[in-house]
Amino acid sequence: MTLSLLADCVCRYVAQRIALLGPKEWVEWVSAPAEAWLEEAAGFQRALEECGLTAAELSTYVRNSPYLLLPGAFQCAGLPATPQDWTPIPDIPATRGALAAVVLVAGACGMETVSYGAENEGALFVNLVTLPGPGAISEKSQAAMKGHTDAATFPFRGTRDPEFPRIAPAPDVVFLAALRNGEAVPTSVMPLPNILDRLSPEDARILRGPNIVLSAQRTFVKGTERALGEKHVLDGAPVLHDGPEGTWVRYTHSQSLPFDENDAVAVAAKSNFEAACLAVTEHVVLKPGDLLLLNNRKALHGRSKVGPAVGGESRWLIRSYGLDCSEVAEEQRHSGNRHTLYP
Ligand SMILES: [Fe+2]
Repeated sequence: MTLSLLADCVCRYVAQRIALLGPKEWVEWVSAPAEAWLEEAAGFQRALEECGLTAAELSTYVRNSPYLLLPGAFQCAGLPATPQDWTPIPDIPATRGALAAVVLVAGACGMETVSYGAENEGALFVNLVTLPGPGAISEKSQAAMKGHTDAATFPFRGTRDPEFPRIAPAPDVVFLAALRNGEAVPTSVMPLPNILDRLSPEDARILRGPNIVLSAQRTFVKGTERALGEKHVLDGAPVLHDGPEGTWVRYTHSQSLPFDENDAVAVAAKSNFEAACLAVTEHVVLKPGDLLLLNNRKALHGRSKVGPAVGGESRWLIRSYGLDCSEVAEEQRHSGNRHTLYP
């Protein structure tokens, strides 16, 4: 089956089922995504099978691919002006299609749609848009972003933070749903297998050891500090991890340092890793209605410069996270909203 057939299947299912929900039913559906998925699981799996794919096959494919682009996974028409803040997501058929597509695809992959209480007040879906006004936050929202994994200081799935074991794993997948991208700003993806191909065994060994300091990324800084009582810093951590699903990565160009700046071998490994990221970068240009699944363990991602346009017809993506929660402990969730993970 092709990715466009799969995208058609998602789009049709949403139009036939989810789009018909009344406003109140919709709010209930999307604010409890795990329950929503349980209601849809049988029907959506049947729809996938009619397109020639089982949910298990889709899950394996998603977990192994650095990224997956589903072109036209939701109908995207009748948009209002682009929002000027992370939240709220305007409730219109196009955004409903985007959100439902995320919940369904995540569910079929054995993942829950999740957020972290420490980021954007725990919002499950956020607008990625240029923010108005002067100041660092607005400037950042216009700027290019170097390669990173999201929630890079959070543990790999199946492991715990050495100091704060309540911290939930970083997401498996970052979902980007495109509403507007008139300037064709590319999302960049750096597949881990291609990065590893360019590293010497010695560099890879260093990166598997406790040799890098990772600090909380911008959107997580304040929230993690509030929850943990201190800034979240992994003071000497591996950025590569070998587990049952292969080699995984976590990294942030902007918030990482060698643990020992006098350790020439570690300094070189970090710099060779960053050079490899640059060399293998692929560019994906999202069009309205596209759903991009970024594998947050087998790729880094970033973006080109967005530019100063705010509101109106400026760039507008919606972002959410998927995580296989089968090993997530109760204490790693917030008690009120189960889909909001700690911190
Ligand atoms: Fe990101």
